[in-house]
Amino acid sequence: MTNDTQSKTTVAFVGTGRMGAPMATRLLKAGFVVRVWNRSPERVKPLVELGAIATSSPADAATGADVLVTMLPDGPLVGAAMGGPQGALDTLRRGSVWLQMSSIGVEWTAQLLELADHHGVVFVDAPVSGSVGPAEAGTLLVLAGGPEGVRSQVAPVFDAMGRETMWLGEAGAGSKAKLVLNNWLVGLVESIAETLHFTEALGLDPELIIELLEDAPIGSPYAVAKARQMLAADFAPSFTLKLASKDADLAVASARSAGIDLRVTNSFIDAWHLAIANGHGDEDLSVVYTNSTS
Ligand SMILES: NC(=O)c1ccc[n+]([C@@H]2O[C@H](COP(=O)([O-])OP(=O)(O)OC[C@H]3O[C@@H](n4cnc5c(N)ncnc54)[C@H](OP(=O)(O)O)[C@@H]3O)[C@@H](O)[C@H]2O)c1
Repeated sequence: MTNDTQSKTTVAFVGTGRMGAPMATRLLKAGFVVRVWNRSPERVKPLVELGAIATSSPADAATGADVLVTMLPDGPLVGAAMGGPQGALDTLRRGSVWLQMSSIGVEWTAQLLELADHHGVVFVDAPVSGSVGPAEAGTLLVLAGGPEGVRSQVAPVFDAMGRETMWLGEAGAGSKAKLVLNNWLVGLVESIAETLHFTEALGLDPELIIELLEDAPIGSPYAVAKARQMLAADFAPSFTLKLASKDADLAVASARSAGIDLRVTNSFIDAWHLAIANGHGDEDLSVVYTNSTS
């Protein structure tokens, strides 16, 4: 697709939160026409300054769009924005493409695929791996599932936001991969929190353990970065505990449906729910350090 084609492609973007705003910014910088909707309108102002068109509802955003992206917290909210009152499916043209990029799990993905089919809209399941930094840099990994016939059409949209798009099969395959990756991620965060407490309990300097992990094959750059945030008590959110816990819950439920028990995740998920009940849900998930092993 040339820049000229991009300037003729209208993308509706629904949900400009921590991830959605930088993703929409990448689309604007790549030359797409972008119609944005967000529940809190003040959050779209910086995007409008970059050339986005502000809209008053998901239905308004979808008007005249060739491609629509949803980037909202969970399945019920995506369902409401698409199929509820003033939902995008009221106006989205038949044959246009819906890129569902929020992390919503397997069951919601199946329900939304049905909803899209009912409206004659092509559904692509496309959650992303990578947080706010990669969203800003355009280096997300897109975990995609959907019909082969639209893959080349949507490639320039994905390319503007990600470093790579992995096509994993039909719709649903991307969400399965996302659940597996995030189950790994939540386990890493819990494990590094426990490791820091264990180090301190043995009277060692946790900085030393971070240095050892930084250079060792058993370390992980993500875990090391989270460990540094934990020790600095810097819980400004890039991925909120509430959203990470939602992914852990989805993983546990999907695993159960598939006949296995996620023993590691089950061992800490109640503590994470408690941290949310205690008011930590909107902080970064690294805040579990303050709640770990007590
Ligand atoms: N953050 C990450 O590192 C990361 C990485 C990969 C994937 N994800 C996934 O990407 C999705 C978005 O995550 P995020 O971090 O961007 O979330 P976020 O910063 O919390 O943004 C959520 C968006 O949803 C909107 N929203 C929240 N409640 C709503 C409601 N009741 N009705 C309508 N809109 C509502 C917010 O609008 P307001 O502005 O009005 O609050 C905002 O636009 C989630 O599925 C998450 O799991 C996140």
